[in-house]
Amino acid sequence: MTLILLLLAFCSHQRQVNAGRPLRVLGLFPHPGVSHFHFFQPIMQALAEAGHEVSVVSHFPNKKPPMRYKDFPLTGMDHLTNSVDLKFFDQRSIFKHYFEFFLLNEWGIAACNATLRSEALNSVLKKKPGYFDVIILEQFNTDCLMGVAHHLRAPVIALSSCALMPWHYERMGAPVITSHMPTLFLGLSQDMNFGQRLFNWFTHHTLNWMYKLISVPAADALVQYKFGRDMPSVGKLARNTSVFFVNQHYSLSGPKPLPPNVIELGGLHIQQAKPLSSELLRIMDSAEHGVILISWGSMIRADSLTPAKRDGILRAVGRLKQQVIWKWENETLDAKPANMHIMKWLPQRDILCHPNLKVFMTHAGLMGSSEAAYCGVPVVTTPMYGDQFLNAAALVQRGMGVQLDYEDIGENNVLRALKKALDPKYAEAAKTVSRSFKHRPRPVLQTAIWWVEHVAHSGGDTLLQPSAVHMSPFVYHSLDCYLIVGAILTIVIASWATLIQRCFFAKQKAKTD
Ligand SMILES: *[C@@H]1O[C@H](CO)[C@@H](O)[C@H](O)[C@H]1NC(C)=O
Ligand SMILES: *[C@@H]1O[C@H](CO)[C@@H](O)[C@H](O)[C@H]1NC(C)=O
Ligand SMILES: *[C@@H]1O[C@H](CO)[C@@H](O)[C@H](O)[C@H]1NC(C)=O
Repeated sequence: MTLILLLLAFCSHQRQVNAGRPLRVLGLFPHPGVSHFHFFQPIMQALAEAGHEVSVVSHFPNKKPPMRYKDFPLTGMDHLTNSVDLKFFDQRSIFKHYFEFFLLNEWGIAACNATLRSEALNSVLKKKPGYFDVIILEQFNTDCLMGVAHHLRAPVIALSSCALMPWHYERMGAPVITSHMPTLFLGLSQDMNFGQRLFNWFTHHTLNWMYKLISVPAADALVQYKFGRDMPSVGKLARNTSVFFVNQHYSLSGPKPLPPNVIELGGLHIQQAKPLSSELLRIMDSAEHGVILISWGSMIRADSLTPAKRDGILRAVGRLKQQVIWKWENETLDAKPANMHIMKWLPQRDILCHPNLKVFMTHAGLMGSSEAAYCGVPVVTTPMYGDQFLNAAALVQRGMGVQLDYEDIGENNVLRALKKALDPKYAEAAKTVSRSFKHRPRPVLQTAIWWVEHVAHSGGDTLLQPSAVHMSPFVYHSLDCYLIVGAILTIVIASWATLIQRCFFAKQKAKTD
């Protein structure tokens, strides 16, 4: 008896040690956009701090790496910071998103090519297949890195720093219901009229097919050049993704039917509050009518605004009672009104959560939009490219945002938009969103770590994968069932029609006889 008890104790002890064993985690982030990396780095960092051994291939080495965090820096590609050429996005064609697709595709191929040839990746590939317990990689505009994951034989967790792309749903077995799930490329919310639903449906399906026909073969060519001809297509390998982390939350972007292998982690990048500098604190605390913050993120230089637009903003601000803080990259700004304060760098999250902050004027990047949702601040959105139109539409749909198109920036329009957003009903809607956004069963970063450990320890937890992942579209959409039911109905209706016709003719014949 004692022996059995001892044995049991020993076994359970063994299992515990096994479950708690430090993992070897590899992060692969070939896209050179720093705003994306703001979503990835907290996860990699927290894994290292939790005692796991973390290797990260990216363009953004950690300046203060914790223990067990090892960088493999990618070099030689421009970082997409302060470099966006607004002219590209100026064309107001309804097919603009197809141009964006080709641009993304080009970036994806370039990043894939550069990464596969990099010193950084080659040092990682010196490890034997099976060395890493789990691979965390960005899925965005290419599936190239799935080839690396296949070579290293480790389960994969995908990360998306924005909403899912049209080609991400099928691989997870997640349904796409285009009547209420706006595609990333259009500025639509979950409330769409008929025209918008038609446009959304068409765009979703065409982009999904374009990805399969253009991006997947391009990545296959590069991957097969690197690893040999018998490498499966990355389109097939992408279906082997165990879990997908998405930077979204239903409180902001609307509830969607997601299977349990797709995890919403919106707001993950939002850190603990830090005290404001004394200068900022003085401005924030002493503003009798509150403070407005204008910030257009890390990619767009505010001083690339045309003089007319810049002066329009300055004159509008001059007519407001509020104090205004503007993230402005230059030391000086001519004709700056007395209530405006310019700063090159801002602790955006801490300013937004200050109780005296009234309105946030933003380009609706997802990081800033999430911070506004977290702090419960109304916004004036001026989306410019990418997913910003989608985020802006969500903020407006939730009643906490006023849209101001980039083309319309001018004194009166800016003033009108800001005054509208100062209406208390926007603040109330923002507070409602904030309550749901902040109130989670467990801190977001802990949820992420739990899933990484779960996937690693279960070798990919194959039970999580819906069968839908391996079905043909024909079967998935039950077209076979529609077909058979349609055939039966046709036969029944046709037989009745024939019968009735026969009777009718028989009667007529009897009459004429
Ligand atoms: C990949 O990079 C190499 C070397 O820089 C270049 O010669 C080649 O054309 C690139 N391939 C593609 C598909 O861009
Ligand atoms: C799919 O993932 C599992 C781990 O989750 C891995 O063992 C297997 O080799 C992968 N299959 C392919 C074809 O890469
Ligand atoms: C700052 O503004 C001045 C005057 O408008 C301009 O000459 C200078 O080039 C600007 N500096 C930067 C770093 O943009």
